[in-house]
Amino acid sequence: MSRTFRRLLVAGAAGFIGSNFVRHLRRTRPDVEIVVLDKLTYAGNLSNLLEFEPQQGYRFVHGDICDAGLVDSLAGEVDAIVNFAAETHVDRSLMDPFAFIDTDVRGTAVLCEAARKHGHQIFLLISTDEVYGHVAKGRSVETDGFRPRSPYSASKAGGEHIAHAYAESFDLPLLVTRGSNNYGPYQYPEKLVPVLITNAIDDLSLPLYKDGSAVRDFVYVEDHCRAIDLVLHEAPVGGVYNVGTGVETTGLQVAEAVLEIMDKPRSLIEFVADRPGHDYRYAIDISRITALGWEPQVTFAEGLQRTVRWYQANPDWWRRLKSGEYWEYYRRNYRPLVS
Ligand code: NAD
Ligand code: TYD
Repeated sequence: MSRTFRRLLVAGAAGFIGSNFVRHLRRTRPDVEIVVLDKLTYAGNLSNLLEFEPQQGYRFVHGDICDAGLVDSLAGEVDAIVNFAAETHVDRSLMDPFAFIDTDVRGTAVLCEAARKHGHQIFLLISTDEVYGHVAKGRSVETDGFRPRSPYSASKAGGEHIAHAYAESFDLPLLVTRGSNNYGPYQYPEKLVPVLITNAIDDLSLPLYKDGSAVRDFVYVEDHCRAIDLVLHEAPVGGVYNVGTGVETTGLQVAEAVLEIMDKPRSLIEFVADRPGHDYRYAIDISRITALGWEPQVTFAEGLQRTVRWYQANPDWWRRLKSGEYWEYYRRNYRPLVS
């Protein structure tokens, strides 16, 4: 079932996973031309893509996926769209839900419309396991319903619903990946893993909501990018794929592992007031993507080592981000635990 593409529009690739995906594509499929469309929100960072600027077959366009005119003209130049563009942080979605609804729902619809109009081969939507909501027991399979509980996950679910509606009503050739929690180089330091690492480097406290017992499935970003590549090129049209490791890790275990790698004291851990609507457990069944021929290659221990080393070696990258607006957000977000 192998597909080939001449030129791809990769939306949201100035962010964490998208920039890693462009790096993966350039390395493994150098003949595929790439047009990146990104709004450069606080989470978008041109320095994530700097190495590609001089390369032939790469172009960056600064713009919004909600801009139907711009999206339509770019869609006319490519054979497929891969959409990473989204507002992505749960804690920020509790402060400003409408930014999430605009980009994650409306923006996805604008991309679907353009893909349909231009008769694209594929529209690949990068979704998330968070659409399933809190999973008390068992594992989510791709046919499970959505039970999102935060404005972020509800917006991602809304975007996915729109894409499925386009597939049903207008034959949009849709593919969807539902990744679990990614970690690795170039992750904006507001998500759990880079907050813990960069705070530990500076001997600042490592904030864990409530008691740090919430469970996530952490997948190394390069493994996730390989899965996205596989789905894009090999999956039958209409496929939806969970992407994760099947391993369950608590926030407290992540913090302890970071401190151990860095040889820092456990006393840096600080339990703080819980996130409202906190999903305490995500767990996905990954048999569908493994049947397609993918499996994770990087263990959490190995991936965390690599990630810590990357943040230690690249302070200029993250120190510039941890300034001004970042600390304003940080002060608003973290509150003392009252027991
Ligand atoms: P990120 O926040 O690091 O990057 C998002 C990118 O999208 C940024 O470059 C930002 O500038 C851009 N963007 C935001 N709004 C835009 C708009 N209106 N138009 C154009 N560009 C816009 O996010 P990430 O962690 O790299 O996640 C990428 C995608 O993967 C998202 O769709 C997210 O929901 C999904 N996902 C993330 C994870 C995770 O653990 N990080 C897990 C599963 C799925
Ligand atoms: P996060 O990285 O925000 O991803 P998700 O979208 O899955 O919530 O958070 C991962 C887990 O870590 C989640 O259970 C919330 C928790 N967490 C903390 O305990 N402290 C923090 O500072 C952050 C950012 C998250």
